[in-house]
Amino acid sequence: MAQETKVAEKIRMLDVYVMGKRYQVPEGLTIMTALEYCGYKLIRGCGCRAAFCGACGTVYNFKNDPTVRYALACQKLVEQDMYLTQIPFFPAAKPDYDLEKTEPTGEQILEVYPDLAKCFGCNTCTKSCPQNLEVMWFMSDALRGDIKEVAIKSFDCLMCGLCTARCPQGLVPYNIALLCRRLYGRYLAPRSKHLDERMAELKAGKFDAGIEELQKMNLEELKRRYDERPILKE
Ligand code: FES
Repeated sequence: MAQETKVAEKIRMLDVYVMGKRYQVPEGLTIMTALEYCGYKLIRGCGCRAAFCGACGTVYNFKNDPTVRYALACQKLVEQDMYLTQIPFFPAAKPDYDLEKTEPTGEQILEVYPDLAKCFGCNTCTKSCPQNLEVMWFMSDALRGDIKEVAIKSFDCLMCGLCTARCPQGLVPYNIALLCRRLYGRYLAPRSKHLDERMAELKAGKFDAGIEELQKMNLEELKRRYDERPILKE
């Protein structure tokens, strides 16, 4: 009991303000877990909790410091006097396009996203990216029609939308990058020989009997089969 008290004594409690109401939460919690500690039940605006799905983009500032900061709520740790509030979803523009009819060129990107030409290179998008991506640079790559560069530089994009929330020109870097990654995958990326071979095997029915066997197994058998699967060692 005495030991438990000592541990409890060591935990520093922080003041955070959720929609104006003060709460005390233990240091070390993320914004997301702190909200839950305060009693909020998170149903929307959260997903993977591992900086992967991009659902939890959020803004915050501090008492006596109005500068708005941006982060992923599942990653950012709470700090003393942090102000948290609910913000609307970012309703970013995403025009319809048919990938089969869209050429992998700069002209086509501008046709789908004509506002891209309004980028004046303020770099605010880069500063707001929780993944530390060079957003402004891939926007200028998109403007030049360098689709491969955009695909490479934006590969780790989570689609959280924070770049769009900050852009003073109302541009949608994450959706523009998505178009470029799709065009790259559809038209420019080298074909995978292994994938072609495996697709041919699938179409020829090479795995049909195995799939049928798995479908007939009960849960226990499936678990056993999974645990006994061969694992490649380096
Ligand atoms: S919950 Fe998925 S990135 Fe934060």
